[in-house]
Amino acid sequence: MTLIENYLVVFSLILVLFPQICWLYSFQHEWDPIHNKYSQFSNAERLQMVDASKKMFQFGYDNYLKYAFPEDELDPIHCRGRGPDYDNPDNININDVLGDYALTLVESLDTLAVMGNSSEFKKAVKLVIEYVSFNNNNTVQVFEATIRVIGALLSAHLIIIDPRQPLGDMSIPGYENELLQLAHDLASRLLPAFSNTATGIPYPRVSLSKGVPLNCINETCTSGAGTLVLEFGVLSRLLNDPVYDAVSRRAVASLWSLRSNVTGLLGNVINIQTGEWVGPMSGLGAGIDSFFEYLLKAFIMFGEKKDLEMFNESYETIKFHLRRGRPKCNYGAGNVPLYVNVNMKTGETVNTWIDALQAAWSAVQHIKISYISEQVLNGDMEEAICSHALYYAIWRRYNALPERYNWQLRAPDVRFYPLRPELIESTYFLYRATKNPFYLHVGRDILESINAHTKERCGYCTIHDVHTKELEDRMESFFLSETCKYLYLLFDTDNPVNKEFSRYIFTTEGHLFPLDMKFHKKPWVEEEGCTHKGQARSQSLLLKQARKELEGPKSTNYNEPVITDARTNFSNCDTIDQERRYNLPILSRYLAQLEVAVGLRGDSS
Ligand SMILES: *[C@@H]1O[C@H](CO)[C@@H](O)[C@H](O)[C@H]1NC(C)=O
Ligand SMILES: *[C@@H]1O[C@H](CO)[C@@H](O)[C@H](O)[C@H]1NC(C)=O
Ligand SMILES: *[C@@H]1O[C@H](CO)[C@@H](O)[C@H](O)[C@H]1NC(C)=O
Ligand SMILES: *[C@@H]1O[C@H](CO)[C@@H](O)[C@H](O)[C@H]1NC(C)=O
Ligand SMILES: *[C@@H]1O[C@H](CO)[C@@H](O)[C@H](O)[C@H]1NC(C)=O
Ligand SMILES: *[C@@H]1O[C@H](CO)[C@@H](O)[C@H](O)[C@H]1NC(C)=O
Repeated sequence: MTLIENYLVVFSLILVLFPQICWLYSFQHEWDPIHNKYSQFSNAERLQMVDASKKMFQFGYDNYLKYAFPEDELDPIHCRGRGPDYDNPDNININDVLGDYALTLVESLDTLAVMGNSSEFKKAVKLVIEYVSFNNNNTVQVFEATIRVIGALLSAHLIIIDPRQPLGDMSIPGYENELLQLAHDLASRLLPAFSNTATGIPYPRVSLSKGVPLNCINETCTSGAGTLVLEFGVLSRLLNDPVYDAVSRRAVASLWSLRSNVTGLLGNVINIQTGEWVGPMSGLGAGIDSFFEYLLKAFIMFGEKKDLEMFNESYETIKFHLRRGRPKCNYGAGNVPLYVNVNMKTGETVNTWIDALQAAWSAVQHIKISYISEQVLNGDMEEAICSHALYYAIWRRYNALPERYNWQLRAPDVRFYPLRPELIESTYFLYRATKNPFYLHVGRDILESINAHTKERCGYCTIHDVHTKELEDRMESFFLSETCKYLYLLFDTDNPVNKEFSRYIFTTEGHLFPLDMKFHKKPWVEEEGCTHKGQARSQSLLLKQARKELEGPKSTNYNEPVITDARTNFSNCDTIDQERRYNLPILSRYLAQLEVAVGLRGDSS
């Protein structure tokens, strides 16, 4: 070879290798500030965050016990307790949730267990047994009482009776199922909501001692009626009393049968007597979010195929009708992917806002991936990463998540932030799935904003206005139950719950339920006319009614396709390319695009 030829060989080698070299270089991203910011999170920093999230919980919890117990909530500015608003029965913002049952303590039980605080867990369980009673005539929302109180009581009960005690010694000497009995007592007081409804969809509210109030509104939101199956199903199985399972399933079946025969979508508010959709808006936010979540979680918990079929169909419908923006999260050009609110009958976009509760959708997507799909790194993962990244960008803009954010105006429509957990919940699930340090940074950003802007004399406050950071004197019980729990679990990577992640499921209120094959079996006999060890006569009547409607020919046929619109072959199954796996979960150019989209930075292009 001549010298020239040698040069030519080397030169052509460089030409061949050049794309590879570029590709390797792009792995380093040394010049990319976004990549540099997120690429590492040291163990020492992580341990600091474990400590900080524990301190956050303890500050709220200790002060609740000191200043508020046995009332329901702590007022973190005035350092006093808060119970139902007896002066103004119409104040549903308070009265739907607070029932004079030491709500914050009840909701904190399983967080104490997750944090391994055995002595405090035992003390708190004893306080609940001693103080909590449902024998009052407060009118509460069926949904809130179920997910907050029944869910928390069942979770703590299951933790106490678990023979393996994986979270540390959480056993209670002399325990006689008192928490289960409390859950049973409350659930039986909620049952009247399921009577005298033409559709089987429950009334939204009951008085704990007098049943459904006279002149109770005949309208309920979809998630209020359709997010009871996990708690009621577990309760039924533990009690060997099918009534709770039956009434909650009847509500879901009825809602499902009323979905649009054009789009397959459900609205967000329905008349429980006529089955008419009073609120025809469909979306993934308030009023409907947890309906889909519970179809999936019910399948995981109880293994009933029809739940998965309903979820699968919903999932496709949601992607088809609600999703906007470029087809792939991490590929190609176009707007930021977004799930919008649409008219359930036409699929047309009805407004330009997204709400804070919707931030939990990434967690649902992740759960779908972990339990249902074989492949972890598939298109659903991409979707989850992208939905989450949008909410994170909004968080960084306001150091909080406004209740409603208008993506067209790039401004909040509703400005409060009540310390909701949904973004941190999704952050936690995505970290479990990717182990990407990006999510530890997100968690730290969230924790630091909460400490910087909401911490007051004796607790953490609702932000009244994300612009001004004006506060409200209220700390909702889900702050200790969910927000602190998910933050702690995000950073405490060696936690028993993380080591056995697939053995647990979190309720929509963040309460931990162990998965157990025994819940796949129904302890009661299934045949029509069976004699069950039911409680009261009214219950067994209710049960018969529920069963009839579930089995009757007019009720839902889960296998029958009712949707008549044409589906595209919207594909979501592409695998994630290597660059993504080892670098940012979402390409930095798309993160930058999100920052522009929410007004965090100007548009430089
Ligand atoms: C358990 O919780 C109590 C109350 O917050 C706290 O004082 C104590 O330090 C905690 N113990 C551990 C080991 O975290
Ligand atoms: C029901 O509540 C009212 C106030 O709203 C109270 O006066 C009454 O004593 C309560 N009745 C029972 C049985 O608790
Ligand atoms: C609710 O529906 C029932 C039965 O159709 C009716 O008797 C009652 O008046 C309705 N209540 C209200 C508040 O509209
Ligand atoms: C959808 O249901 C409505 C009644 O709810 C009926 O009038 C209409 O014909 C149905 N459309 C199709 C395409 O089946
Ligand atoms: C639901 O969808 C998953 C894939 O996402 C599939 O593996 C499963 O077989 C489907 N199950 C049912 C019951 O439709
Ligand atoms: C699937 O989509 C591609 C374009 O994305 C299109 O070319 C193809 O014809 C579609 N296939 C079917 C069966 O609709």
